Parts: sequence; C-alpha cells; structure tokens
Amino acid sequence: MRHIYIVGIGAGNPEHLTVQAINALNKVDIIFIPSKGAVKSELADVRRDICQRYITNAQTRFVDYDVPTRQTADRSYVKSVDDWHSEISSTYERLFEQEMVIGESAAFLVWGDPGLYDSTIRIINRVRDRRVLPVDYTVIPGITSIQALTASHRIPLNLVGKPVQITTGRRLTENFPGIVETAVVMLDGEQAFNKIDDPDAYIYWGAYLGTKDEITIAGRLADVAACITAMRAEARERHGWIMDIYLLRKGEDFDDQI
Ligand SMILES: C[S@@+](CC[C@H](N)C(=O)[O-])C[C@H]1O[C@@H](n2cnc3c(N)ncnc32)[C@H](O)[C@@H]1O
Repeated sequence: MRHIYIVGIGAGNPEHLTVQAINALNKVDIIFIPSKGAVKSELADVRRDICQRYITNAQTRFVDYDVPTRQTADRSYVKSVDDWHSEISSTYERLFEQEMVIGESAAFLVWGDPGLYDSTIRIINRVRDRRVLPVDYTVIPGITSIQALTASHRIPLNLVGKPVQITTGRRLTENFPGIVETAVVMLDGEQAFNKIDDPDAYIYWGAYLGTKDEITIAGRLADVAACITAMRAEARERHGWIMDIYLLRKGEDFDDQI
C-alpha cells in the first residue's frame, strides 16, 4: 500500500500551518509539488516557503509534476470538470507508481483546507476506485480562506443560532438575502455582490488574505460596492491574478429571538 497525506496548508500565511500538518510533512518520504507555471508564482512561493521553514527531514524527496489544464471547448462545465479530474487522477496514478515504492508515503500541499472547494480528496478517490494501484489516504485540516476572512475583519462567521451559506458568485442570488442572512462567497469572477440591491446588506471583503498584499474592505454594501469593484480591478491588474472572498450579512444577533 502507498499512503497519501492531503495536507491543508492554510490560505496564504505560512504561519497558518498546524503542528499536525508540520509533523505530517516531516514524516512523508515524498512531497509532490505542482510545477511552475501551473500555479500562480506567488502561490508557488508560499508552498516553497512552507517547505523551507518546516521540513527538517533531510531524507525528504521533492517531486515536481505537471498539472493538466482544464479543457472547456465543446463541453458543458460539468463535463469539463469531470474530464479534468479524470486526467489529474491518471497523472496521480502515474506519479504514485513511478515515484513511490510500496510502503512509502507522500504529501500534497493543499491550499486552505482540503475539504473546502478543493478536489484533491475526490481525485485520490478516483485513483482508489480504479483498483489498479492500492492507495490509502489521510486528510490533515487547514485554515480556510473563510477563517482568514473572518479573523481579518474580527467578526464571527454566523449570527447567534443562525445558518450560514457558503456559495459561489454564480449562485449567490439564489439564497441571499431572501433565505439566509449570512452568505460567504468564493470563486467569484463576476463580482456578484453588485447584483444585491438591499439597503440593509453589509459586506466584509478580502483579497490575498494572509499574504503581505492582503486588502480588506467592510461596510454597507451600497456604500462600498463600487470601491471594492475598483480596488479589485486595480489589484488584479497589478498582480496579474487575484483571489478574493467575501461575507454578506443582513440581520443582527438575536433579532428574531427578542
Ligand atoms: C479553489 S478555492 C480553494 C479554497 C481553499 N481550499 C480554502 O480552504 O479556502 C479558491 C477560492 O478560495 C478563496 N481564497 C483562497 N485563498 C484566499 C486568500 N488568501 N484570500 C482571499 N480568498 C482566498 C477565493 O474565493 C478563491 O477563489
């Protein structure tokens, strides 16, 4: 059996790493690193910094691999993601076979937490389901971008006793503000907050959280939406990429319980 550790590394600050993650990284034989170009260079720098800071095991082998790119032409979104996962799982299977001997362990460094909008767990399960190469895995939790966002804004995630929805920009308006009072929006390429026309909505926005370039803006949505849109466009242009997340809120603690 080969054993894979899927290690959450936090959302951008190398100090997000847990002791459990550091111990796992020092225990494995191999660290798999996505090759340059496959990930934005600043994100690759965070992974490199983490390995340099925390891995003290001189026997560790570092193995680069090319991440297949997602093909979108002539197929639906779902088919495109399914094909992509299938291709990555073939890449992983090849890596495990060629780079690991039976009994060895390896780690993938996963941004944030492996359970939140990340498919590494799913892809390892595809390898297992093929039943060609016996592989087992362990998941090590990491600090998510949601936690980085609420900590930077010094706010609780939920209102007292109330639910939270985690969603994407594409689906935001399905439930906020009508159904949930707190929505966290990730993977939003369209600034969907601009579609919310509600004088009582607040936004807590953050980009490059945990990094030296972190930007945060909070306020009444109607007052700050234009500023966020402009700031986001400027930052994206300057860096060549952006990762941002926001929490929308309408309502107060205890307001339905008094
Ligand atoms: C593919 S998901 C990965 C989420 C990750 N597994 C986590 O636990 O946060 C990428 C999305 O996470 C959010 N994100 C991740 N890191 C971030 C950061 N440092 N600052 C702002 N948003 C971030 C953005 O919404 C981005 O589009």
